[in-house]
Amino acid sequence: MTEILQEFNTKGFQEQLVNWFEEHKRDLPWRKTRDPYRIWVSEIMLQQTRVDTVIPYYNNFIQKFPTLQDLAFAEEQEILKAWEGLGYYSRVRNLQAAVREVAEEYGGKVPDTKEKISQLKGVGPYTAGAVLSIAYNKPEPAVDGNVMRVISRVLLIEEDIGKVKTRTIFERALSKMISKQKPSEFNQGLMELGALVCTPKSPGCLLCPVREYCRAYHAGKEKSLPIKEKKTKVKAKDMAAIVLRNNTGEVLIERRPETGLLAKLWQFPNIETIKDAKQQHESLREYLKTEYAMTVEVGEIVQKVKHVFSHLIWSISVYEGTILSEKPIDNDNIRWVNENSIESFPFPVSHQKIIAQQIRR
Ligand code: ADE
Repeated sequence: MTEILQEFNTKGFQEQLVNWFEEHKRDLPWRKTRDPYRIWVSEIMLQQTRVDTVIPYYNNFIQKFPTLQDLAFAEEQEILKAWEGLGYYSRVRNLQAAVREVAEEYGGKVPDTKEKISQLKGVGPYTAGAVLSIAYNKPEPAVDGNVMRVISRVLLIEEDIGKVKTRTIFERALSKMISKQKPSEFNQGLMELGALVCTPKSPGCLLCPVREYCRAYHAGKEKSLPIKEKKTKVKAKDMAAIVLRNNTGEVLIERRPETGLLAKLWQFPNIETIKDAKQQHESLREYLKTEYAMTVEVGEIVQKVKHVFSHLIWSISVYEGTILSEKPIDNDNIRWVNENSIESFPFPVSHQKIIAQQIRR
C-alpha cells in the first residue's frame, strides 16, 4: 500500500484541497452545524439524492425533528411523510431505528468511534466516515462514488470501482492522505471537488486546485477514469420462431406474459433452443403440440434475425410452417390473424423484422 503514495506530495495536496474548500465551499444548511445527528441526517439523505433536491427536505426534516430524541420518538407515518418523494424509504426507517438505539444505549450521544457507530442500522463505511470526520473531526476516510472518481484520477487507480473490494484500496490510501488537522474540510473538500470540478464526463482540470498533484491529468487519462466495468454480462440466446399459416392464409401470433421483458407484446410463436436445425424443428413441433394442441409441419429457415438488448442478444432462426390439424382456440393470448391486420398488434422490434420480410401485405 505504501507504493501507491510513493512520490505523492500528500502535504501539498492536503493544503491545496483544504484551502480551496474553505474558500469555495457552497453554503449548504448542514454546513452550519456540528451536531452529529444533523450531519448524519444530511449524509443519509445525500446518499442516493442530489444536493439541490436534498436542501428543502433537510430543512423541513430538521424543523420537524430538530433533535435526535424528536426523531427517536416520532411516529413512523410522520417520518415517512417527511421523506415522501426522496425515495429509498428504508433509509429513513433504518435511521429511526438507529437513533432509537443511540437514545437508549448511548444516552442520546451519537457514538464517536468507527467501531460503535458502524454497528448502527444503515450506517455503512461511508456514513461512518462522513459523520466521524465532519461532526467529530476524526481522520476517517469517507468513500462514496464521487470520492472514488476523484481519487482514481488523482492517484491513477485503474481498478474497477464497481467491485466491492476496490473500495478498500481507496480507504487505505485515504487513511494516509487525509489531513490530521482538518479531516472534516479534507473529506468535504473531496466531495465538493467531485461535485463542482472533477465531474464525471468533462472534468474542469483547468480550474482544479489540485491539478499539479493529479496523475491522470499528467497522463491525459482524466476522462477515461474511473474504470467501471459493465456489471451485467450480455447473454446470448438462440431462438427459433415460426410463421405458421392455416389454409385460409391467416398467421398465428401469441401474446407475451404480463410481466417481464417486452410484457404483453405480440410475437410469432417461438422458443429458446440450441442452434441445431433438426433440434429446432423438433422443439417447435413439440411446443405447438403441447401449448396449443396443434400438429404442424415445420419447413425451412426463411430468415435470421438478430436483436441486441442492453443485457441480452437474441439470435432468432425463423421457420415457415403449415398446420396439419388443430383444436379450436379459446384463449385471449393467441390468435389467427389476417396478414393485412397483423400490423395493428404491438410487436417487439425483432418480430417486426419478421413481419417486414415474411408477411404479405
Ligand atoms: N455529498 C455527500 N455528502 C455531502 C456533503 N456533506 N456535502 C455536499 N455533498 C455531499
